[in-house]
Amino acid sequence: MEQFLFPHNFLWGAATSSHQVEGDTTNDWTKWERAHAPRLAENARLKSYPNFILQGYPNPLLEENYISGLGADHYHRFREDFDIARALGHNAHRFSIEWSRIEPEKGRFDEAAIAHYREVITALRARGMEPVVTLWHWTLPQWVADAGGWDSEDTAGYLRRYCERVVEEYKDEVRLWVILNEPQYWVVHAYVKGVFPPAERNIVHALTAFLHLTEVHKSVYARLKSLYPDLQFGAVESMGWIEPAVCRWMLQWFRNFAFPFLVRRHIDFMGVNYYRSRRIGKKDASGPHASDMGWDIEPQGLGRVLKSAARWIRKPLYITENGLADARDEKRAEFIRAHIAEMLKAKKEGIDIRGYFHWSLLDNFEWDSGFWPRFGLVEVDYKTLERKIRRSAWEYKRIIDSI
Ligand code: FCB
Repeated sequence: MEQFLFPHNFLWGAATSSHQVEGDTTNDWTKWERAHAPRLAENARLKSYPNFILQGYPNPLLEENYISGLGADHYHRFREDFDIARALGHNAHRFSIEWSRIEPEKGRFDEAAIAHYREVITALRARGMEPVVTLWHWTLPQWVADAGGWDSEDTAGYLRRYCERVVEEYKDEVRLWVILNEPQYWVVHAYVKGVFPPAERNIVHALTAFLHLTEVHKSVYARLKSLYPDLQFGAVESMGWIEPAVCRWMLQWFRNFAFPFLVRRHIDFMGVNYYRSRRIGKKDASGPHASDMGWDIEPQGLGRVLKSAARWIRKPLYITENGLADARDEKRAEFIRAHIAEMLKAKKEGIDIRGYFHWSLLDNFEWDSGFWPRFGLVEVDYKTLERKIRRSAWEYKRIIDSI
């Protein structure tokens, strides 16, 4: 039965994004980090963190925690990292291409960067792993940010040109493409909460950016699909389950489905990023059912989200991110097992789910939280850049092998 539910082409793997693992990127985030690291470290003094986090390195009280710097140096170590992923039984890998490397100046495409990502894709294929490529995972080249970023109408045209160029380059090796990562979640953090660059709190700009992202998704999709009808182009959004039931329908729609619903006729598949459920009014948690970041561990939420995504969107689904910050690797194995069990239940109910990508392959730079949250199946020692496979990564392999 399970074999039938998980055909041989079901994708099992992990996900990363360029700015979070590559190291040495130069984009709008790099600039923002340098300007805000002192403030973020200062604010961290007012929060409470588990002791093992404060004793670890880097920890939230240090400014360097907030500067992406060399990251995990995945830019140079991708072959070693993919060897590990292969050894862990992955048959696919989701990663993003860094726009600021491909087009460091307006209209100038960098051949060395284009060659680099070709090597990345070739390295995956050589290991029998299907590449799933995200074209925009939140970072902008500085010249795009300077020209107004997502607040400006021009950005759509720039992104379209970059996407066309990239897909043209790798169309023969990459079948599955994600155009935008979590646009709705990003807009809320950049323009409502004001914690991601450009870090404004401006509802008009939030709506403008959201509409630009929705429109650019549609136009990139139309263009790419007309050029390459055999390739699959999708969208990815962050989806959480909301309690209590009062107002759930409305809150959930805005939290999860506004973007996917608006673009549902312009996607070949939908990527669901699921981390947590939220009880309105409840503070971040601690204890056995919470991650190091205080996010509730709530596997059933994944099943519920998959069901509503299937209802709203009516396209094949992939779980494109699912994971937790767990520095001591105490909860990850059970987290993976329980979430995959929920996915299995949803598949048994007939939902068309085609892949599961754990977030993340490696410990990485968690945006405005910096390096301290440890999301990796593989631990990274940020002083030596040494990789150490966590026990839970083998548990994930056992699950993949048993299915
Ligand atoms: C998601 C982001 C991803 C990572 C995880 C923890 O919202 O897409 O880059 O930061 O959260």
